[in-house]
Amino acid sequence: MPQQILILDFGSQYTQLIARRVRELNVYCEIHPFNKIPALSADIKGVILSGSPCSVRDQGSPDVDLSLFEDKIPVLGVCYGAQLIAHKKGGTVMASTSREYGRAKLTKVDHHNELLKEISLDTQVWMSHADTIKAVPDSFEIISSTPSVDVAAYRVKGKQVYGIQFHPEVTHTLQGKELLRNFVVHICGCAQDWTADQFVESTVANLKQKLGNDKVVMALSGGVDSTVAAILVHKAIGKNLHCIFVDNGLLRKNEFEQVLDSYKHMGLNIKGVDAKDKFYTALNGHTDPEVKRKAIGKTFIDVFDEESHLLTDVKWLGQGTIYPDVIESVSVMGPSVTIKSHHNVGGLPAKMKLKVVEPLNTLFKDEVRVVGKTLGIDPLILGRHPFPGPGLGIRILGDITAEKVRILQEVDSIFISSLRNAGLYDKVWQAGAILLPVQSVGVMGDERTYEQVVSLRAVTSTDGMTADWAHLPYEFLANVSSDIINKVKGVNRVVYDISSKPPATIEWE
Ligand code: XMP
Repeated sequence: MPQQILILDFGSQYTQLIARRVRELNVYCEIHPFNKIPALSADIKGVILSGSPCSVRDQGSPDVDLSLFEDKIPVLGVCYGAQLIAHKKGGTVMASTSREYGRAKLTKVDHHNELLKEISLDTQVWMSHADTIKAVPDSFEIISSTPSVDVAAYRVKGKQVYGIQFHPEVTHTLQGKELLRNFVVHICGCAQDWTADQFVESTVANLKQKLGNDKVVMALSGGVDSTVAAILVHKAIGKNLHCIFVDNGLLRKNEFEQVLDSYKHMGLNIKGVDAKDKFYTALNGHTDPEVKRKAIGKTFIDVFDEESHLLTDVKWLGQGTIYPDVIESVSVMGPSVTIKSHHNVGGLPAKMKLKVVEPLNTLFKDEVRVVGKTLGIDPLILGRHPFPGPGLGIRILGDITAEKVRILQEVDSIFISSLRNAGLYDKVWQAGAILLPVQSVGVMGDERTYEQVVSLRAVTSTDGMTADWAHLPYEFLANVSSDIINKVKGVNRVVYDISSKPPATIEWE
């Protein structure tokens, strides 16, 4: 294992951000729930206690036994984490009476303290708490203050235990990264050697050892995660990795051929399976989004299962699971409520009785892209917008037919290629078209038409959890609209979706 920082999650919305900031310093870290702490190993160089929506004054609020770490490795409490340490050591934590939300300035900074080295006086920090530390015990020294928060940061005297009530992980804390660097590099002694090259090297070595001469089967989707995962496994075991790419009849125009082709160029041992008819039959007459998702998911599992049975002696199933999925499934708050059943291949390993190998399950999405770049994967694949597993099946509202798929593929293709041509593709997080179950009256030449309506959707986002509709130029939208209506038979009206998430979602179904 690489050197690492342990981040204990008490349920704050910012915990993942702390991890991302630490990793930006080329230091590996892992998030674990406060109540499932891993055994301390020599690789763990320090621990960060995260924030929380709870109050240390509440009965049953998240707690941790500090003796697990204290005097063994350095400890940094952030917000709730800082309040918890203070509370447990005899300090006073109370509901705050003054404003402790938003920007503030550090008007006292103890530059002799290692945590605050190079942190400027008057630097801006971000506060976000309802409780505050009113008094600290004699064993604490206050190392930083703001005009309204006396205990902005403290150190437990003679110990490597620190607390800060502001949030170093958010960009509004202008020197947050420096402070985290002071902690992980200078106080914990991490070497900052966790890089994409190093990740590739150690992952491939581990995969070689784990998989030996075993065969692995993997479903590829053309997306970033499954592609990068496959290339890593391929580097480790070569032809023993058997990839399957299923045409479910719900892909983008020409996507099956193009993606299959680029996989072959990458040297992958891949089989393309045309299962369009199976999917259309399973979807026949279904209009409910969740029923459609389940039908697509089940058909996929059947097709994949059937294909992998044609291979002999397969022991492993490779998957492109990434870190946020892992954190989500063990989160303090529990997995978030299912609004849409996203993970439609979730039933695979159980059905196939295979062991699972997930080489990316410690990486965030942007880190996957960096690793992909290191591996020399085509930037066109790495930069692709996310595309849902059920594909156009959830962008054709109502029932699905081959003809509707054809129409939507044409519309989508015009929209996406126009975005590329206008240099807008990389500025939006995700884009696509939706075929509405609505017909509208139009006029073409002297003829009255009564045809389909399509909606264009483009959003900006960082992780898909929240999103804003992309403010595409009117001129661009005007051109795309007339292109679509002129070129796609069966469509006589184009609308643009101007809803943000929340309260809307990115997909319409
Ligand atoms: P929503 O519509 O929930 O979408 O705002 C958030 C992100 O998830 C994608 N999405 C899916 N991905 N299977 C998938 O693999 C699905 O059933 C599914 N539904 C939505 C969506 O495209 C967006 O990137």
